[in-house]
Amino acid sequence: MKKLHGDIFTVQLGGFYFTFITDPLSFGSVVKEARAKLDFNAFAKHLVRRVFGYHPVEDDHKLIQSSSNKHLMGDGLVLLTQSMMSNLQNLMLHQIESGGTKGRSWHEDGLFTFCYNIVFRAGYLALFGNEVAKMAESVEEAKEKDRKESVDLFHEFRKYDQLFPKLAYGVLGPSEKMKAERLKRLFWNTLAVDKLNTKENISGWVSESHQIRNELGMHKSMQDRHMFLLLWASQGNTGPASFWLLLFLMKHPEAMAAVKSEIDEVLYETGQEVKQGGPLINLTRDMLLKTPVLDSAVEESLRLTAAPVLTRAVLEDMSLKMDNGREYKIRKGDRVSLFPYTSVQMDPEVHPDPQTFKYDRFLTADRQKKTDFYKRGKKVKYYTMPWGAGVSMCPGRFFAINELKQFVFLMLTYFDFELKNPDEEIPDIDVRRWGFGTMQPMRDVPFRYRLRF
Ligand code: HEM
Repeated sequence: MKKLHGDIFTVQLGGFYFTFITDPLSFGSVVKEARAKLDFNAFAKHLVRRVFGYHPVEDDHKLIQSSSNKHLMGDGLVLLTQSMMSNLQNLMLHQIESGGTKGRSWHEDGLFTFCYNIVFRAGYLALFGNEVAKMAESVEEAKEKDRKESVDLFHEFRKYDQLFPKLAYGVLGPSEKMKAERLKRLFWNTLAVDKLNTKENISGWVSESHQIRNELGMHKSMQDRHMFLLLWASQGNTGPASFWLLLFLMKHPEAMAAVKSEIDEVLYETGQEVKQGGPLINLTRDMLLKTPVLDSAVEESLRLTAAPVLTRAVLEDMSLKMDNGREYKIRKGDRVSLFPYTSVQMDPEVHPDPQTFKYDRFLTADRQKKTDFYKRGKKVKYYTMPWGAGVSMCPGRFFAINELKQFVFLMLTYFDFELKNPDEEIPDIDVRRWGFGTMQPMRDVPFRYRLRF
């Protein structure tokens, strides 16, 4: 369509007219437009009803923004990072803690399955809480219960995950519909507020969300559905993102060496060493702020594999001004969309050689974050958009980046791991998920890993 019509065109999809803007220099006209004209809520409400069975309250979007600002950023993030770390340790390093040697033999798995499994479960436990240890002796039992229950939840989540694109587009077949319905009920039930209340270390993000809805008089069953929405928003993207990051590092030894050396430096500066019989490393939020190389690798990996569509409902007749000065009339009732993946993330003018993973693409010569990218000689403000932008920009992005970094940190310090086939090609992305955040691969990649200590 871009080849045929240029940087702005309208297509009819599922009963709506969507106007796509593909010139990144013109994205600001959509992202910054007043909510009175371009609205995110109307579109989102429709989706969350269909996908999670949740009926949002009047100011739902504001509620989620304010609790996210408090608990997923700033001081709230310090707590959450600690909690993520202890859950990652429980899932990845419990064999070290229990003194066994089982973890030291090689294990084989699919890299995607392995990464998604660990990051999903640790993120879920950090946000939704841990099993309570009733007595000092039962601490280990509680940790084991966390490991077991989270793995069961992950397997069910993956089933829903696979139905997700068709579910969101409303094109499930009859038997898939029944399967989705069963899974939805299972999640409402497993994440029911009454059950969560029996846990400890529940994050402020989750506890405040249902406390506020409770105070607003929302029915318990609807609060349970909201918990499912929070699980989805928080766990559907970071696991797949951790897979791509680790795979790109494994396929690019120079990138792996640069990241490893930075990690060693950070550990050395804080006087920590990973050694046989030594204490587990403590990786704080402060330490995670000192990793520009890893930050760039994360950003690059997301540039290549995060492909959300940003959509707004048009509330009144309006016009959109493009960077070239031309104005286009947009009709009330239609939609306006951006797809930054093809429009900017893969644009060779903005990112030369766009298909290639370059771990230092977002790094300046003096190891600062690089933000200067150009198109037609002009600086591009929105040069990569894995988190969306404007009113609906992902409020979990700082936590998500921390999760990815903590996971990579632990993999690189505690594990030996390698691809089963060193010549393994990077798998294609599954384009059926275009529009829904982080992409998934068309196939898994066999690898092996073992604990080094
Ligand atoms: C790599 C990981 C992640 C990616 C790529 C990602 C991406 C996104 C994107 C693109 C959106 C905007 C969707 C839109 O405009 O329609 C979004 C929204 C959201 N994300 Fe994330 N996300 C990630 C991780 C997380 C995490 C870890 C959390 C929470 C702990 C989270 C919480 C949310 C919430 C609550 C929203 C809805 C915001 C709103 O309605 O304003 N995300 N995410």
